[in-house]
Amino acid sequence: MKIKVANIKKAKNLLDKSNCIAIPTETVYGLAGNAYSNRACKKIFELKKRPKNNPLIVHYYNISQLKADCILNKDFFKLYYKFCPGPITFVLKLKKNSKISKIVNNNKKDLAVRFPKHPVARKLLKYLNYPLAAPSANLSKKVSAVKSEDVKDDFGKKIKFILEGGTSSIGLESTIIDLRKRPKILRLGGLEISKIKDVLNKKILYENNPRKISAPGQFKLHYSPDLPIKLNVKKVKNYEAYILIKKVRRIKPNYFFLSKNGNLKEAAKNLYSTFRKIKKSQYKFISVERIPNKGLGKTINDRLKRASKF
Ligand code: TXA
Ligand code: MG
Repeated sequence: MKIKVANIKKAKNLLDKSNCIAIPTETVYGLAGNAYSNRACKKIFELKKRPKNNPLIVHYYNISQLKADCILNKDFFKLYYKFCPGPITFVLKLKKNSKISKIVNNNKKDLAVRFPKHPVARKLLKYLNYPLAAPSANLSKKVSAVKSEDVKDDFGKKIKFILEGGTSSIGLESTIIDLRKRPKILRLGGLEISKIKDVLNKKILYENNPRKISAPGQFKLHYSPDLPIKLNVKKVKNYEAYILIKKVRRIKPNYFFLSKNGNLKEAAKNLYSTFRKIKKSQYKFISVERIPNKGLGKTINDRLKRASKF
């Protein structure tokens, strides 16, 4: 994709003045502001209607920029050099003299950080002299945005500028791992746990118990398209939208395919846009075929489960 320098400059001008803009990342679009500016971070929470105690992820260009704000450890270095830039977010301890706005993490002593891979996001981050706080660019609890039109649908003119970056290549949010003590997955995402395990070569905790919530992204009723969803469905009525993992021979108007041949990467990429497409059509229910629970299928099933708690 060709990057328009004029757009990067416009983005920087707005961000320098503590405005919020939408930026593309390879996972989903983000609603970004200067992470060192109280004013910018306050605006993000207001725009997103996000509760103050739900912290933001801060986006960096590289490790040397991060060193000013966080305490790094061995596990972090291993994962950073293997997967970054990419779809993984680390929870680390904040340095005492960090300049991160206290609004980002509600005055707590830890910070979630990530290094997006999208070339437009990287070009922008390299050009700025501060990192960007950015939650996903969707209204609180709803489906994330994977292209600029999705952001427009959710926020209209409330956002001053959307930096164009095409469709997000991964289409699901980053995997969040807490590295402050023993590595612990807080949210399934675009990077499979098995790949993380191979690099760290030790046990990784993953608690999928909604009663013990450490990242609000683990809340039930999240990622919701605002329609009732039934999972593992084999037969549907014509008035229900039916999401299938791969194309079938006898196609019906209410069938929506996540992938041509059952490829889970392709399915992940198409999940949120399929939700949005169905929501814009006349359907009042969504039924979903069983999705294989392996690799990215685990993340897809996690999002489907949360979306189905309608
Ligand atoms: O792929 C992504 O991660 C996207 C793109 C834009 O980078 N961002 C994203 O942000 O999904 P958001 O705000 O929609 O989700 C971030 C999740 C929230 O569930 C939040 O509670 C959790 O990360 N989180 C943020 N800071 C945390 C912290 N210090 N400790 C634990 N969880 C944290
Ligand atoms: Mg989100």
